Amino acid sequence: MNHRRALRAAVTVAVTGALAAGMAMMLSTSASAGTTLGASAAEKGRYFGAAVATGKLSDGTYVGILNREFNSVVAENEMKWDATEPQQGRFSYTGGDRLVSHARANGMSVRGHALLWHQQQPGWAQSLSGTALRSAAINHVTQVATHFRGQVYAWDVVNEAFADGGSGGRRDSNLQRTGNDWIEAAFRAARAADPGAKLCYNDYNTDGINAKSTGIYNMVRDFKSRGVPIDCVGFQSHLGTTLAGDYQANLQRFADLGVDVQITELDVMTGSNQANIFASVTRACLAVARCTGITVWGVRDCDSWRGSDNALLFDCAGNKKAAYTSVLNALNAGGTTPPPTTPPPTTPPPTTPPPTTPPPTTPPPGPGGCSASVSLNSWTGGFVATVRVTAGSSGTNGWTVSLTLPGGASVTNTWSASASGSTGTVRFTNVDYNGRLGAGQGTEFGFQGNGSGAGMTPTCTAS
Ligand code: XIL
Repeated sequence: MNHRRALRAAVTVAVTGALAAGMAMMLSTSASAGTTLGASAAEKGRYFGAAVATGKLSDGTYVGILNREFNSVVAENEMKWDATEPQQGRFSYTGGDRLVSHARANGMSVRGHALLWHQQQPGWAQSLSGTALRSAAINHVTQVATHFRGQVYAWDVVNEAFADGGSGGRRDSNLQRTGNDWIEAAFRAARAADPGAKLCYNDYNTDGINAKSTGIYNMVRDFKSRGVPIDCVGFQSHLGTTLAGDYQANLQRFADLGVDVQITELDVMTGSNQANIFASVTRACLAVARCTGITVWGVRDCDSWRGSDNALLFDCAGNKKAAYTSVLNALNAGGTTPPPTTPPPTTPPPTTPPPTTPPPTTPPPGPGGCSASVSLNSWTGGFVATVRVTAGSSGTNGWTVSLTLPGGASVTNTWSASASGSTGTVRFTNVDYNGRLGAGQGTEFGFQGNGSGAGMTPTCTAS
């Protein structure tokens, strides 16, 4: 930011401050309002986040900056497929849970990154294909989103599925080869698992109106028109030494489709333009009502995946760079930009609520009680069962579904229910958030098993 612009920003802040104080509008400002990225973004109804490597949470300088400046976090690697399901059906949430508890202890929101991606897949998934991969991928989405249910503000459900270059089409990958509908299947599974999380598609090289961003735009428009549950689009924004002139216009055209937009992995090549580009991205987000927040991909330059690009807001010693000041000034400038209130961040019902009517194969509920139906996704040696529970005319306070597994089959994982036993007759009981169903209302739980799950007949008991 040059001096004249800095001066103008300072003057604008002073004038706006006086006006606002006069109108008694600056009520909820904390001591640090206007002096940290998080507080300044919050004054504009946005968050300002950083990607965190949990291994660095024991580094005092790192965690000092993180806690002072940021009010949102995303795991740099800890919630990716290779980290969360290193062996098929064996889930590991140590790093992700650690980040979530750090966030909770410090009043930060959490972005979840990323449920499905062609990179950082565990070896076992890389070697799968076809139905086995599709089932494993959907199971992964279901399990991980269920584990973090209620703790994640927004999930990158699918990351980087579009090709670079001029095609505007999908990238080839093992996931893409399971069928073009893999993305919508992932979004539907994520919605069912965590109806409260905003579900995002996230990608890079989408920093203006170009063939790739237009391909994504067309997918989002199609999803919205067909009721596929998508709430937001993430723009990674790993930037070089220039910024596309239509960066803001591109965000706006997505917002106009009825989704939120977020800057999800911002970092910028070092150089004379770095501070200006950071500030321009910040201003673009503030100018788009549905841009709900900005995340930078790391804290200090030496924490960055971009090696010697020095692409972040703090130098390796933890000092604020010119880029930091330009972002803070941009956040504090103006004051009249409408915050993203369509829909307000805390109250939006899912754009497409999870299905509450039983699928056609579900037996109609009788009076009182409850009924259950099972659908199976099987592969050689294993299966995922999705069980739909439907309350009868009296509703339920709780429910138990009993299923007898065929000989040789066993339950290895359960989500959205708690299981007693793993072989023979297994009883699945509701968890705290899905026991209470109104008359005719439904909910789903699931489990993964070894062996064959064919021919299971569920019985449901309501309490
Ligand atoms: C990067 C991490 O920063 C590195 O630590 C890791 O080795 C590779 O992945 N796009 C994404 C991020 O969506 O997950 C990537 O993160 C950077 C590019």
